[in-house]
Amino acid sequence: MRHLARPQPAGVRLAGTGKAIPSKVVTNEDLAAKVDTSDAWISRRTGIRQRHIAEESTTVRTLAVASIQAALSNAAMEPGDLDFLIIATLTPEMCCPSTSARVVAEIGATPAGAVDLSAACSGFVYGLNIATGLIQTGQYRHIGVVGAETLSHIVDWTDRRTCVLFGDGAGAVVVSASDNPDQGCLYQSMASDGTAWQVLYCARTEDDLPDDRDGFSGNFNTLQMNGREVYRFAVSTLQKTITEAIEGAGIRMDDLAMIVPHQSNQRILESAIDKLGVPEQKVYSNIDRYGNTSAASIPICLNELMEADRLHEGDLVLMVGLGGGLTWASSLWRL
Ligand code: ACO
Repeated sequence: MRHLARPQPAGVRLAGTGKAIPSKVVTNEDLAAKVDTSDAWISRRTGIRQRHIAEESTTVRTLAVASIQAALSNAAMEPGDLDFLIIATLTPEMCCPSTSARVVAEIGATPAGAVDLSAACSGFVYGLNIATGLIQTGQYRHIGVVGAETLSHIVDWTDRRTCVLFGDGAGAVVVSASDNPDQGCLYQSMASDGTAWQVLYCARTEDDLPDDRDGFSGNFNTLQMNGREVYRFAVSTLQKTITEAIEGAGIRMDDLAMIVPHQSNQRILESAIDKLGVPEQKVYSNIDRYGNTSAASIPICLNELMEADRLHEGDLVLMVGLGGGLTWASSLWRL
């Protein structure tokens, strides 16, 4: 293994970002031809206009491989430089082996450590926070963190309440030790409330269902959701988590260059930031083009921001994830 002989506490930097987006686009009009919905309903209620959907033969591994390869290339690194890979996903290929172990092998990064992380839409921020902690031990230098999803494989395409919301894709970052101790994560949080698990779930059998079968469409192995409860949770948790991160890091809202929230729904984002008084241009959104890609949404945003040269060294960036579990997490960085 490539662990350092003498661990040194280190700064942490985002060395590279990448993404992998399936080429097939499904518009709201396409969905309206299949279920009883309309472009007007979907765009007004969610801000989504289209989503990318993986072909049957494309798995979460395919997308994860392409996104981490892109991030490594962006960081000017070789796969062999990676010490560890975390893949956040709620759509792993199998429960054993982990998707991450196979991705490590496929990109040629063996024997890097590999683990899949299950925290639904908060998964990428959980992974980034854990990777940061590992690097700060001084024993790891380069860690890949991927958010990858093929949600289309677990969406009930007959249920208009959910099928309009989700999309497929993957985003990845490489985080590396930095000689600059001011660089890295200034504040992080990870939280859960499993007492409310039944507002968003994917049941395999009758035994998994909540007692009141809340929100169950009748189809197992598909995402079930109580939309109104998720909406309430998301708006209040986004506000609370942003405020806690700002206070915890001892900065002002104005100091932030960008907030990169999980892309759940444009109405959720607008409602939360409106109450906080954050200028709209400081909250990144691409939900109109991708829909909700769960763990992949934040790293896809990061990659787009980097490619558009909208983030620079020294900028303060706050990432906030929230989703099934229920789970939520924040990560406030000085780039
Ligand atoms: N097209 C047309 N009509 C629809 C659709 C649709 N796609 N979906 C539901 N409706 C209908 C309902 O059947 C209902 O009809 P009815 O009044 O005749 O019974 C009506 O629209 C209103 O339904 P509500 O569920 O009350 O609609 P609401 O205003 O709550 O909007 C929505 C639904 C958009 C899902 C909203 O609750 C929401 O955004 N929730 C958050 C969901 C979310 O973000 N989930 C992502 C996963 S978790 C995460 O990422 C944090």
